[in-house]
Amino acid sequence: MEQTIQRRDLLKAGLAVSALATSASAQPMETVRVAFVGVGGRGTGLLRVVLKLPGVKVNALADINEANLARAQKVVTDAGQAKPEGYSRSETDFRRLCDRDDLDLVINATPWQWHTPISVAAMNAGKHTATEVPAALTVEECWQLVETSEKTGKHCTMLENDCYYREVLMILTMIRAGLLGEPLYAEAGYLHDLRTVKFNTVPHGEPWRLEHTVKRNGNLYPTHPMGPLAWWMDINRGDRLSHLVSMSSKPSAMKAFAIREFGADDYRAKTDYKLGDVNVTLLKTERGRTITLWFNTNSPRVKEHLLRIQGSKGAFSSLMDKIFIEGRSNRGDTENWRGRHDWEETAEYRKEYESALWKVKGDDSRGSGHGGGDYMEMYRLIKNLREGRPPDIDVYDAAAWSVISPLSEASVADRSQPMEVPDFTRGKWKIRAPIDPDQIV
Ligand SMILES: NC(=O)c1ccc[n+]([C@@H]2O[C@H](COP(=O)([O-])OP(=O)(O)OC[C@H]3O[C@@H](n4cnc5c(N)ncnc54)[C@H](O)[C@@H]3O)[C@@H](O)[C@H]2O)c1
Repeated sequence: MEQTIQRRDLLKAGLAVSALATSASAQPMETVRVAFVGVGGRGTGLLRVVLKLPGVKVNALADINEANLARAQKVVTDAGQAKPEGYSRSETDFRRLCDRDDLDLVINATPWQWHTPISVAAMNAGKHTATEVPAALTVEECWQLVETSEKTGKHCTMLENDCYYREVLMILTMIRAGLLGEPLYAEAGYLHDLRTVKFNTVPHGEPWRLEHTVKRNGNLYPTHPMGPLAWWMDINRGDRLSHLVSMSSKPSAMKAFAIREFGADDYRAKTDYKLGDVNVTLLKTERGRTITLWFNTNSPRVKEHLLRIQGSKGAFSSLMDKIFIEGRSNRGDTENWRGRHDWEETAEYRKEYESALWKVKGDDSRGSGHGGGDYMEMYRLIKNLREGRPPDIDVYDAAAWSVISPLSEASVADRSQPMEVPDFTRGKWKIRAPIDPDQIV
């Protein structure tokens, strides 16, 4: 009860609290002048989405791969805008791009090691920035993002498209309506066989990913599953991640794949891959909730969209696509514990609890990547900037969700010892307003 009142009060305080709790700010703007750094597979996909939105002008593009750069320039001119200036002199040519005086936002879809350096350069040059996931690779980089955003007053958002999935926002709407009770436990995973992508044996292979599999062991891609759970559980907005423990199975599938594909004498078959095939990370929150994150990009499997939550009054499972609500799904029959605990179809709840965003923009998002999530994240990014509002996912979220990687690596390397999650908000998680799904529209 006390928690419900607290959340309601925080929601009422809404914008005032979120403005108070983030030092970055922005004036409304009619047109958002955009640059992209990194226009490979992902950057080009996002560029196509952005070009469909009103109030966007793409003024500059950077990529060290000149063919990718030229392809992206053509995407822009095909959309009817002037050819954006290209930057491809070197891996640090993004600095020249950031120095332009006709940019409001730098979108960054480069390989992971460039996310923080480019975000920091953009903010220091007076631009807002939106980075692909994860925002940072080390604890130090996470702090660097937070401190630079606070110092410059510029937004640093992370492009976590999973937060905008239809069922994620619907469950958030149901949580706000009190249907699931208090969220107690949730689990989610990034379970995606990327062996061919890492070894570059498919046309869209990304060889930069392989290096991380060779050298690192932990949960290397935590933000896709963490983002939705953080919104459901008010992480950084009423609660916060406190500590984690992490464990990896032994590495096996990468070497087996390399022997089969390239022969036993190939250097890739002789390479030792540090990344354990299946990583499980357990997190505890300050208010006593628990989270499990799964990570597996090495094993033969079908991509699985694992997303589950257990609240004090009910549960949701994305795999079954079903919901159970005490007193509704079992028709109030709590006495008869043997039966009547029937799951209900998620679709049954759509009529009542479809999120505000999906009601309004569901049709427009159709056909865009990741179940419409790519359209939704870019739509919200640009809309917030045009209206002078903070991004839905701010620098504190980017840091707290990304830091899971280095902390899981440290825990795995030390017999699963608990690792403290830094409080990047420096106590402001207690007063920051929870995400209000009715405002995400
Ligand atoms: N959110 C999602 O659903 C999603 C999906 C795919 C990829 N991603 C992320 O997007 C990022 C890019 O992935 P991708 O699949 O497009 O990889 P990619 O290899 O296809 O593209 C990366 C591009 O960045 C360029 N590049 C590399 N270093 C650069 C530098 N210093 N300056 C300028 N350009 C540079 C490369 O030439 C390439 O064109 C990664 O962080 C990845 O994790 C996110």
